[in-house]
Amino acid sequence: MKLLRTKARGLRVLGLAFASASLIAIAGWRVSQAQSDDVDYVPVATSINAMMVALVDHAAHEIWEAGSAQSLTGRDWQTVEQHAIQLIASGTLVSLGGTGVADEGWAMAPAWQDWTQEMTDGAIAALAAVEDHDQSALNDAGGMIVNSCEGCHEAFKPDSPTEGIMHIPHYED
Ligand code: HEC
Repeated sequence: MKLLRTKARGLRVLGLAFASASLIAIAGWRVSQAQSDDVDYVPVATSINAMMVALVDHAAHEIWEAGSAQSLTGRDWQTVEQHAIQLIASGTLVSLGGTGVADEGWAMAPAWQDWTQEMTDGAIAALAAVEDHDQSALNDAGGMIVNSCEGCHEAFKPDSPTEGIMHIPHYED
């Protein structure tokens, strides 16, 4: 009898767990529905080409340079933190495409999303390394980031930039 009661209670608990899991699932679904239907998001008003040069490349270089620097001061760590956050956020922007002629087609490709996710994960790892002041982890995160740049460029990047936007010297100051 005792065993049965315990079993019944166990089942009830299990039932509750299932019920709350489905509630959470429904709530999650509602949130994503609300996001897609009820909110007018600000469209990306610049191109992949421009974002690559002015945002992605710029932020990534700060991470790579810090990963291989002799030593890093507190201020240097803050600079890397700033650029890791920029790279994390640019992952979402890049995933959405932009105003360039080819951007929408690229953003529709599953491989585009995979490479963008890898870049974002690398940037998240860089931010975690900053929190720990762990330069070797920062270097590893830089490696992940390089893989994502190279992998995506091999798959998608045309020989010359679609909008002719390349490194303008003053971006590098
Ligand atoms: C999801 C795919 C993707 C990822 C990830 C990506 N790129 Fe790009 N990148 C492109 C594409 C596509 C272009 C060409 C855009 C165009 O010409 O319209 C480009 C262009 C560029 C350009 C400008 C063109 C040139 O020839 O100089 C630079 C610089 C650049 N990427 C740097 C990077 C760096 C650095 C990273 C990694 C931190 C990176 N990209 C990650 C797809 C990607």
